[in-house]
Amino acid sequence: MGVFELTGRKALVTGGARGLGAGMAEALAAAGASVMIADVLKDLGEQTAGTIAASGATAGFVQLDVTSDAEWEQAVAHTVAELGGLDIVVNNAGIEITQLLVDLDADDLRKMLDVNIVGTALGVKHALRAMRPGGAAGAGGSVINIASVAATIAFPGIAGYSATKSAVDRLTRVAAMESGKLGYGVRVNCLYPGLVPTEMGMKLAVETAGLGLFESPEAAVTAVVGLTPSGRLGEVADMADAVVFLASDAARFVNGVGLPVDGGMGM
Ligand SMILES: NC(=O)c1ccc[n+]([C@@H]2O[C@H](COP(=O)([O-])OP(=O)(O)OC[C@H]3O[C@@H](n4cnc5c(N)ncnc54)[C@H](O)[C@@H]3O)[C@@H](O)[C@H]2O)c1
Repeated sequence: MGVFELTGRKALVTGGARGLGAGMAEALAAAGASVMIADVLKDLGEQTAGTIAASGATAGFVQLDVTSDAEWEQAVAHTVAELGGLDIVVNNAGIEITQLLVDLDADDLRKMLDVNIVGTALGVKHALRAMRPGGAAGAGGSVINIASVAATIAFPGIAGYSATKSAVDRLTRVAAMESGKLGYGVRVNCLYPGLVPTEMGMKLAVETAGLGLFESPEAAVTAVVGLTPSGRLGEVADMADAVVFLASDAARFVNGVGLPVDGGMGM
């Protein structure tokens, strides 16, 4: 078995119904893993799991609002029971609400804090509990948190979102340190995706233009590409392949890092 292969591994991907999460679940399955998609979107999540299963992989769906500690407990127990273990957790679910600081809405900011920070922190909690020695899965593993290039640059209109992704970055490092110190055998890393034209990515371009920061959504995209040495937007597969790498034995000594997958935009 090659070091990038995931045959026999069991993975849970939050926010896997669509966008980057769906691509990550597909790529993990293509590398050999069994996959559980966890999302608030039941119909779409089941549909995505069905598509992956149709390719011959083992795939399922579990309803999960990542902000709920109780739902996390159930989702992880369900995944361990259905897949026969848990080795990989991708904390990908996230939301972005575009707003200028002068117009900051406290409730909108709290929503982002809740999903992006609390949701990811709970994901780390339940992943570590399940994967550590004596846990329901108990065989160690890899946790991958999806931060953003927004944690490494100053892009207008996304101050609150950027703050939540910086928090994901820092909590990743502490999680890796605690896991190591306590002998859990779980690596914890995060990814900084660049702009990808998913539903969230396109909404960002439209809304930053709507705030008058760019002449049009196209101009917003052009500005991002102009800041990117690789000269293009990101693609779902760019992020998905990086997740497979971090999940695999090829990354066996990669721990506590933030990996930019942004074509150089955040350097
Ligand atoms: N698209 C980009 O340009 C980009 C760039 C950097 C980082 N990211 C990050 O990547 C991740 C995925 O982004 P995307 O572009 O695929 O977004 P998306 O909006 O297309 O998909 C997000 C998914 O998360 C799910 N979700 C939202 N809230 C949830 C909750 N409380 N519980 C469970 N699931 C929930 C949604 O239902 C959806 O399936 C996010 O964390 C995002 O911040 C995206």
